Amino acid sequence: MCGIFGYIGKKSASDLLVKGLLRLEYRGYDSSGIVVKNGQLQSYKDTGKISEMASALPRLKGSMGIAHTRWATHGGVTKENAHPHVSNDGKVAIVHNGILQNSNLLRKRLTKIGVELNSETDSEIFCHFIAMELDQGKEPLEALQSVLSMVRGTWGLCVLFEDYDYVLCARNGSPLIIGRGKEEMFVSSDPHAIREHTDQLVALEDGQIAKVSARDFQVMQTDGQEVESMLLHLEEEWSESEIGDYPHFMLKEIHEQSESLQHCISGRLRHAEGTSVLGGLQIQPQNLAQLPHVRLIGCGTALHAAQIGQILIEQWARVPAVSHVASEFNANDPVINPNALHLAISQSGETADTLSAVKEIQRKGADVYGIVNVVGSSIARQCGKGVYIHSGPEQSVASTKAFTNMVGALTLFSLQLGRSRHLSKTKGKMIGREMRKLPDKIRTYLENPGPINAAVELILKAKSVLFLGRGISSPVASEGALKLMEIAYIPCLAYPAGEMKHGPIALIEENSPIVVIAPDDGVQERTLNAIHECKARGAKIILIHEEGDPISEVGDICIPVPSTIPMLTPLLTVLPTQLIAYHAALELGNDVDRPRNLAKSVTVE
Ligand code: AGP
Repeated sequence: MCGIFGYIGKKSASDLLVKGLLRLEYRGYDSSGIVVKNGQLQSYKDTGKISEMASALPRLKGSMGIAHTRWATHGGVTKENAHPHVSNDGKVAIVHNGILQNSNLLRKRLTKIGVELNSETDSEIFCHFIAMELDQGKEPLEALQSVLSMVRGTWGLCVLFEDYDYVLCARNGSPLIIGRGKEEMFVSSDPHAIREHTDQLVALEDGQIAKVSARDFQVMQTDGQEVESMLLHLEEEWSESEIGDYPHFMLKEIHEQSESLQHCISGRLRHAEGTSVLGGLQIQPQNLAQLPHVRLIGCGTALHAAQIGQILIEQWARVPAVSHVASEFNANDPVINPNALHLAISQSGETADTLSAVKEIQRKGADVYGIVNVVGSSIARQCGKGVYIHSGPEQSVASTKAFTNMVGALTLFSLQLGRSRHLSKTKGKMIGREMRKLPDKIRTYLENPGPINAAVELILKAKSVLFLGRGISSPVASEGALKLMEIAYIPCLAYPAGEMKHGPIALIEENSPIVVIAPDDGVQERTLNAIHECKARGAKIILIHEEGDPISEVGDICIPVPSTIPMLTPLLTVLPTQLIAYHAALELGNDVDRPRNLAKSVTVE
């Protein structure tokens, strides 16, 4: 939640800060602001979109500054609550991501000693306490250390000082990276916001502070002990963050799926051996043979990818696998078997629920492998092993191409796992061959996506939409429902097709739209039963099926996708559901890329 961007160099900071914020807007977008040092600290902030704030922004001169885009937690969406917050003497400005648990107490302490508070936020206390410490003759680093020892909670924090030519950053639970340029430095919540300036970055760890000047930076523990940080390289794919000719990032990202899946699988399939190789997921053969089970953990779209991964692993590797809602994982004090395989799946690599599950598993003695998109993100670093899914930057809040590549990476892994156990070479080769064809099939479908508008028209007339799927299509139904709900705000229910008759069937009225995912996958016949049960009660079926399949006879609106082997169908059947959500949201006049109340990476539990 919330995005931070900072610049320390020789160029005009204000322009770079606005550009950086625009790149981070998907992290939070209810208000924003910047502060630049030019002798004095000059700041400007407002509610609304970053573009609105930027167009009203007065000319702020200076080559050092910090900026913030907010997703409100403490305090409503007001100009006063927007960041930056500046101390009353004007000498210290801060931007903060995270939540301070003891902010009430600290706010009271400030009020008691006569400090005027200007917002309702937890964050504001930072600037006042730091200013007070400076007043007492402390150096900025010492002042920050002292304030960090008072607060409890999470922070990604940047501090700008009127009297010093550097920015101090601190991290505890909210991501911050430092990008190293030539005589200029960048600070950001996400790597892709800095990729146009530099491909070298350092990710701060929890409990670290960094002192960042134009030529250099030092990373230290909170107690001031310097640490050596690893410089990471940010690949070219992370520079692809312009919207281009597309009206929305979501549509752009839907259309990028063919290419991004290609990135995910290229170089990882081994045709001659009928297998795949995921470098970060190499497990010793003796451990593989004794693997008791696999647990996959994620939230939202990542959870749906995990549910697909669970089925693939069981089908091809014949190892028991189970997927978990990350936010529920710790609540149930799970029994962790150190010999089992644990996979944490996340686009952002910052989702607090998933990160917390990873830590719980590690605390109980097992390793966790990350299946993550964002390079150097918290989950990737906390796991210390795993694979990147190579989707490139995903900026629409509604995840599309990351889903495809999560499923792509899990498919490769299931193949690798299967081949190291019982899956035959012949079957492995056939799977590899079919996987290679997928990017083209995705492109072909997107060129001619079928009657999406007719489906949208039907959906927009209804109070709610039911999504049904069976087997590997059941998580696809859930993903379709999530997408439509999050950007079109239409109540949706996703159910395994066979379970529909045990309750949701009561919802069906004349013309109720039901999206059914029904590839020719061996369980289709029973999905057909559910379709007939719905139709008998007046429902209208939006049928997503494979091309040329006679099942189309039962659909009221039929959306064919290219055919493939059953286990790979999610990578094609999900596409129409993404387009339905996109066009429904568009018709309703919603902000497709920035749906209300949501943020791209959810860094609070
Ligand atoms: C997807 O469209 C959602 N915006 C959301 O459910 C998301 O998938 C979830 O918050 C998990 O995010 P992550 O992949 O970054 O961990």
